[in-house]
Amino acid sequence: MPASSMEELVALAKRRGFVFQASEIYGGLQGVYDYGPLGVELKNNLKAAWWRSMVHERDDVEGLDSAILTNPKVLRHSGHEETFSDPLVDCRECKSRWRSDHLNGRCPRCGSADLTPPRPFNLMFKTGIGPVDDGASFAYLRPETAQSIFTNFKNILDATSRRPPFGVAQIGKAFRNEITPRNFVFRVREFEQMELEFFVPPGTDQEWLERWVEERLRWWDAQGVPRERLELLRVPDGERAHYSKATVDLMYPFPHGLEELEGIANRTDFDLGSHTKNQREMAVTAAVSSNDESNARLAVRDDNGWTVPYVIEPSAGVDRGFLAVLNEAYSVERLENGTERTVLRLRAHLAPVKAAVLPLKRNHDGIMARARALKAQLAALGIGRVLFENTGNIGKGYRRHDEVGTPFCVTVDFQTLEDETVTVRDRDTMRQERLNAAALAAYVQERIA
Ligand code: GAP
Repeated sequence: MPASSMEELVALAKRRGFVFQASEIYGGLQGVYDYGPLGVELKNNLKAAWWRSMVHERDDVEGLDSAILTNPKVLRHSGHEETFSDPLVDCRECKSRWRSDHLNGRCPRCGSADLTPPRPFNLMFKTGIGPVDDGASFAYLRPETAQSIFTNFKNILDATSRRPPFGVAQIGKAFRNEITPRNFVFRVREFEQMELEFFVPPGTDQEWLERWVEERLRWWDAQGVPRERLELLRVPDGERAHYSKATVDLMYPFPHGLEELEGIANRTDFDLGSHTKNQREMAVTAAVSSNDESNARLAVRDDNGWTVPYVIEPSAGVDRGFLAVLNEAYSVERLENGTERTVLRLRAHLAPVKAAVLPLKRNHDGIMARARALKAQLAALGIGRVLFENTGNIGKGYRRHDEVGTPFCVTVDFQTLEDETVTVRDRDTMRQERLNAAALAAYVQERIA
């Protein structure tokens, strides 16, 4: 059973150090969050799982890590300056501002129906570049990681000799000045994306789109978000982004409602065309002047001349993925003795702490030394974070680790000193078994991968 409300997840996230409000001691900053000691581990594990399946396990994808600060010309040619906006309305009564497509005719704060007509509000953040703040020297904080994959297309082609079909993957921050950030880390102003731009020969694009939808469903399933929990939304005409010929959204039942977790779009040759010299007709805007143009030809040469590949783009939000994974894993169980336990049934590869080593007695030198040595041995496996925890209360330790999803707790006791065995307790079954310490590394490693 997933969490019954967002409040439950928010409370756990704060209490156990997954997510904090950013700048909290100064009253916070709306739509911005910090990931705490356990949150950063879970988030890194999710990103690593994506990178592994997208780049390391494939033979047709390269990686990229590009800058966040972006030359405005990139986002002019991409169409974002002109079209990347949400409809904004003002309440004339209480002066609050809202996204008009999130309202039903009334101000959510004061209930007034006296609202201004909607007008477009561009979502991109600007920042000054250099020491002179003259308004002319500015950069955008990228609103999607995708554009720098397009602007680096020729560099990557030259460096790798790739030919379509092939892709470029990137994980990184994106920024959007959302009018109404809400629902915890679901809609925020600073977030992370995991994006693949997969370049394909024109004519094969729709087939690749469907292939990527399947592949992404399979991947989410492996992260503990079952495919039967995801609904496919084929986004209708008039509701897609300006660059898209077809988009399939993977919709997940978040605690606040069914919403987009990931979008898979057919971006056609729109972006590569728009960034190519003398291809101005591809850009959405007539306002792009010729001296703004790039000096590049973002195309592939083959026997038939130059071809601009089409692009299929699976684009997932890390923060939304984090929320979905947490929600799926969360469960409150009633035990036989009538008590309750909260347990995060995270897939082991995503768990923030892989194993905790607990000495039965904290003042006993022999037990402490053996437990420390075991912790060091497990940590050296490179499986992720392993904790040595010398609170001395094993029962409480188990409960605390259930709540943050630690798959294994290893207890070192007096018997360990006699026969070199330890107790391993499994998070999901709560079963404890006595293992030879020499077999522990292999036991844990086998179950974490
Ligand atoms: N490059 C394509 C693109 O950016 P998008 O549908 O606007 O498409 C892709 O964003 C994904 O990024 C979304 O499916 C969502 O997971 C995540 N995302 C977008 N805006 C977000 C926000 N304000 N807060 C958190 N995640 C967001």
